[in-house]
Amino acid sequence: MPRKLAAGNWKMNGTTAALSELASIGHADIDVLICPPATLIAAAAAAAGDGLSIGGQDCHTGISGAHTGDIAAPMLADAGAKYVIVGHSERRTDHGETSETVRAKAEAALAAGLTPIICIGETLAEREAGATLQILTDQLAASTPDDATGANTVIAYEPVWAIGTGLVATTDQIAEVHAHLRADLTARFGAAGTDIALLYGGSVKAANAVEIFATPEVNGALVGGASLKASDFQPIVDALAAS
Ligand code: PGA
Repeated sequence: MPRKLAAGNWKMNGTTAALSELASIGHADIDVLICPPATLIAAAAAAAGDGLSIGGQDCHTGISGAHTGDIAAPMLADAGAKYVIVGHSERRTDHGETSETVRAKAEAALAAGLTPIICIGETLAEREAGATLQILTDQLAASTPDDATGANTVIAYEPVWAIGTGLVATTDQIAEVHAHLRADLTARFGAAGTDIALLYGGSVKAANAVEIFATPEVNGALVGGASLKASDFQPIVDALAAS
């Protein structure tokens, strides 16, 4: 069985004052993660309690070098990160990241001892064209390293049209995709593929978390807007723990 993970992605939000939110986020029984902006990772790792991990939102494919503004995976680990999000659709769109780049980033994360959270998702145009499952199969295959296991890698399905829009995929849509991704993972990795956590992301809120977590093959969530305040995020954490 995959481990449950409730992951928050603060994106480009938060200064030092936001660290006070971390005091009331966490859980003893499931994995809980906040990925703050890189400027806050070290302070967040110091502030987080036992039931909360801290992660990065992106990393470079290399370990050091002449790459102004970029951050290497070992630097994130050194700052106290345990995870790193790679291939978020905002990175794929804003920075032109391909699945091949995302895979190289995931490999860099693994080499640094970080757990990559590899994001994949279809656009609205791709869904309307009936291409969703093929797009996701292709993204998953190209973005996931060969040595991925349930112990070192997490996959997040985030339909691009559901991120930050208030539009949530229906539980039927989520169930169809997650069953498809699970089949892809077991076809490639065998039994190990059954242990890789599959997160759903896209406008997850306390109000829809219970039904999303009751959906087959949903092992957690990647949450943007509703992770910024502990009062919004901790109920999602508790709903996952109770699911
Ligand atoms: P959202 O973002 O929860 O604000 O829709 C999700 C994400 O981008 O991970």
